[in-house]
Amino acid sequence: MIDNKVIEQIKDRLDIVEFIRQYVPTLKRAGKTYKACCPFHHEKTPSFTCSSEKGLFYCFGCQAGGDIFEFLMKMENLSFNEAIEKLADLAGVEYKPRQDTFSVEEQRRAGARQVLEFAKKFYHKNLLSSEGTYARAYVKERHLSKETCVKFELGLAFKEPAALARAAQSAGHDAANLKEAGLCLQTDYGLRDYFRNRLMFPIINHRGDTVGFGGRILGEGEPKYLNSPETVLFTKSHVLYGLNFAGPAIRKAERAILLEGYMDVIGCHQAGIEYAVAPLGTSLTEEHARLLKRYTENVILLFDPDAAGIKAALRGSLILISRGLFVKIASLPDGLDPDEFIIRDGKEAFEQILDSAEDVIAFHVRQQISRCAQPLSAQDKTHIVTELAEVLAQQPDAIVRREWAKYVAEHIGVDEQLVLARTRTPQTQKMFARTAPKPTAEMQSPANSAEEELLAWLLRAPQQAALCGELTEQDFSSAGAYALFRAVCQAAQDGATDQQLVEQAGAAVPSLSKELVKLALVQTPPDFEPQRDIAACVARIKQNGVQKRLKEVQHQMKIAGAGNVPPELIKEFMLLQTKLKK
Ligand code: UTP
Ligand code: MN
Repeated sequence: MIDNKVIEQIKDRLDIVEFIRQYVPTLKRAGKTYKACCPFHHEKTPSFTCSSEKGLFYCFGCQAGGDIFEFLMKMENLSFNEAIEKLADLAGVEYKPRQDTFSVEEQRRAGARQVLEFAKKFYHKNLLSSEGTYARAYVKERHLSKETCVKFELGLAFKEPAALARAAQSAGHDAANLKEAGLCLQTDYGLRDYFRNRLMFPIINHRGDTVGFGGRILGEGEPKYLNSPETVLFTKSHVLYGLNFAGPAIRKAERAILLEGYMDVIGCHQAGIEYAVAPLGTSLTEEHARLLKRYTENVILLFDPDAAGIKAALRGSLILISRGLFVKIASLPDGLDPDEFIIRDGKEAFEQILDSAEDVIAFHVRQQISRCAQPLSAQDKTHIVTELAEVLAQQPDAIVRREWAKYVAEHIGVDEQLVLARTRTPQTQKMFARTAPKPTAEMQSPANSAEEELLAWLLRAPQQAALCGELTEQDFSSAGAYALFRAVCQAAQDGATDQQLVEQAGAAVPSLSKELVKLALVQTPPDFEPQRDIAACVARIKQNGVQKRLKEVQHQMKIAGAGNVPPELIKEFMLLQTKLKK
């Protein structure tokens, strides 16, 4: 079991709103809570809510909700144990995870993490050692300073076939973890290193975890770059190189640049352009877009102006657009890579190129036109508009889509309405609408508004629970609603603090606890007066209860038939009628 004290301490020390803001920079104050578009599903009007006071978040659109642990687990795909470890560290709370509480999966990941850290230090030490002279000469040739090497923790994998395997094993790491982390392979000759004779680039994800390596061959050899294989920690298409450093700079500059390689990212950062990142030699994915979206909505794609580069930029831009990013496209002259360009022409010249980057729709239009003879024939126009309609269809924002249609119409020389007519509604919207989970019947338990309000207000003012004394199970519309009500009253009676209330009550009705999270975040009206408003809800629920019972009694009377109705039933019927009139 995990110590509850640790959990409480973490919650006390970390403000959920500030924590979530790192992922959702657009959080805006709305009364006592904060709102933004939900990071867990695609939406255009904010239904994601969180509150410092309650320590909770809830999305009224997709029903995601919970505390800071839940948020981190969902956001980063972590287990509960892993989330605690992260947050304890952040909050400065002492926490030693007990390995025996880890699941098999968690143990595998923890083992891999340990050897990756070891390997990173080992490779780095090699580079700085006397045997690393030849690699340092290469680094110097590439104009990287000592500080840069240290900052990016660059390293050296020796030529020997098992240098790391030996060092790691004599430091007490076992072969299983080395293999699990993709650092070593079992061969007929024994355990062998995966990386040899390479300049090593630790791949650190945006959370600061080392998840793998890229290694560039020193001298001649194939492949030029070798990446760690995919492991329990490493999914190549989910990482952007440099993002661990670039995050704050991207927010500050309000833009990110996407480059192609490790050396390009490092070259930019060294020159002071710290908002640069790169995928790991793969094409751009939805996950990359999602990651970037946490930091900015403006992305500049820098590409090689050869055929393959253009194709990659066209395809990559569609993925970024579809996730609601604003994309610009730039390229460098003379076939230079960014790192080479910066060395030759300097930082200012490079930033000038970024500043004059072309808007993505202009880039697409220009590419299309350049493939045809001028002036465009009717046939060309129809082909081009069909192609560009695909681009427009990726744009989730209707206003931008409209602007783009106008641009396309003007530049191709067709009517704007015809462009729009060929544009499907964005795929993404439909896709996300489908994937947003529907609330289950169970979760809708407090079906009527009086019950929902009562619970919401009680969560605000638990000290008023005594006002609900006369409510009984019969008054509630469902067993679930009553169970929630009981759980909240019990937690209030037990003296739960504001923060603990939802958690304690939720523990009593686990299947409905999400409902409590939601209700805890319902906004109180500006003139909220706990005593008056709770009493009013109680009265409404009581009335609903009476009505419900009245219906049942009437039904029983009907079944009994005229003349055969038992006197108690008639008595109850009259009583209920007078209650209803009250
Ligand atoms: P490039 O071939 O453009 O290399 O690959 P580069 O970054 O300019 O390398 P230098 O300047 O010669 O050192 C760009 C990226 O593609 C991936 C790597 O992530 C690299 O940074 N790549 C390239 C591979 O994964 N494998 C390869 O064999 C080559
Ligand atoms: Mn290069």
